Amino acid sequence: MPLTGKNLPAFRRSLLHWYDQNRRDLPWRRSRDPYRIWLSEIMLQQTRVAAVLDHYRIFLERFPNVQSLAAASEDAVLAAWSGLGYYRRARMLHQCARELAQKHAGRFPQRAEDLQNLPGIGRYTAAAVASIAFAEPIAVVDGNVERVVQRFLGGHRTTPQIWQHAQALLARSRPGDFNQAMMELGATVCVPGEPRCLVCPIRRWCVTQPSRQAGSRPITRGRRSSPSGKTPPSIRPAKKNIWCLLNQRNGRIRLVQRRKKASLMPGMWELPQSSEPPRRLPPAAQWRTFRHSITVTDYTVHVLRNAALINAALAARSKWIAIDRIAQIPITGLTRKILKASGII
Ligand code: ADE
Repeated sequence: MPLTGKNLPAFRRSLLHWYDQNRRDLPWRRSRDPYRIWLSEIMLQQTRVAAVLDHYRIFLERFPNVQSLAAASEDAVLAAWSGLGYYRRARMLHQCARELAQKHAGRFPQRAEDLQNLPGIGRYTAAAVASIAFAEPIAVVDGNVERVVQRFLGGHRTTPQIWQHAQALLARSRPGDFNQAMMELGATVCVPGEPRCLVCPIRRWCVTQPSRQAGSRPITRGRRSSPSGKTPPSIRPAKKNIWCLLNQRNGRIRLVQRRKKASLMPGMWELPQSSEPPRRLPPAAQWRTFRHSITVTDYTVHVLRNAALINAALAARSKWIAIDRIAQIPITGLTRKILKASGII
């Protein structure tokens, strides 16, 4: 049966009961501290839970509260963020901590409306922090929630309409848990592609579940037919090769700082690299090949070891950095991957 005002309480009870029984035990769910919740929400934007877990723990060891983060240098914050990508998030996080320390005595405002005035906090993050840390009855919509609501109610709705529907569905008695339940349902049951409708706690009211729609499949995001009936081309990542040099000597390695004005990862440190292979490449210099993806590019990374293959311009820009200093400087995710694989860090 489609959802009506009469069965709204039953719908909320079913979802929350499912969440209580099935939720993943994640570190930010053991706390109501707005700092910890805010940090998790920023890290989880564009990054999978599994990739966030270690960074979250280490970041909190280094910066356990707003004050310690506000007092840190930007380089130290970027160093702790290294490997998570999308470094603008780390810079905004740092700016936000500074503003909280300077203008709000280090405390988070409690209402989503006020949280949204802070650097790097948009509608989604404001609603997540306000509902989870402060129990404000305000709905959150991320990509997962949007898919759940879209399928649950059927038809096609615009994003502003989805926000309105999510607000109407919200269990005001437990807004933080309800919001996380909706996100969790989208991440683990109402997944893109083939949803797991048989284990869905709200299937009774779902307009799109297969038994109600003989022969039809749930709406999925992504490839949708255009009015002409042609499938729009999907975005395929570009493929590129790069050559990196791993030069190690007397406990130091050679790194180059990216330009401060670079559009990607400005000011971060990396191994000397080039999009062209060296003109003369002795076979012994080839060490390993890595795959690495950044936004819409898939790189094949050829790592050359201890070779004198660096060109003069790159050599002039590079510095020998002591290996025990590497934890304190912001290095790129690719550099971290290579240094880890080689046992250097
Ligand atoms: N994705 C982002 N934040 C989340 C949360 N708190 N619970 C589940 N999924 C999430």
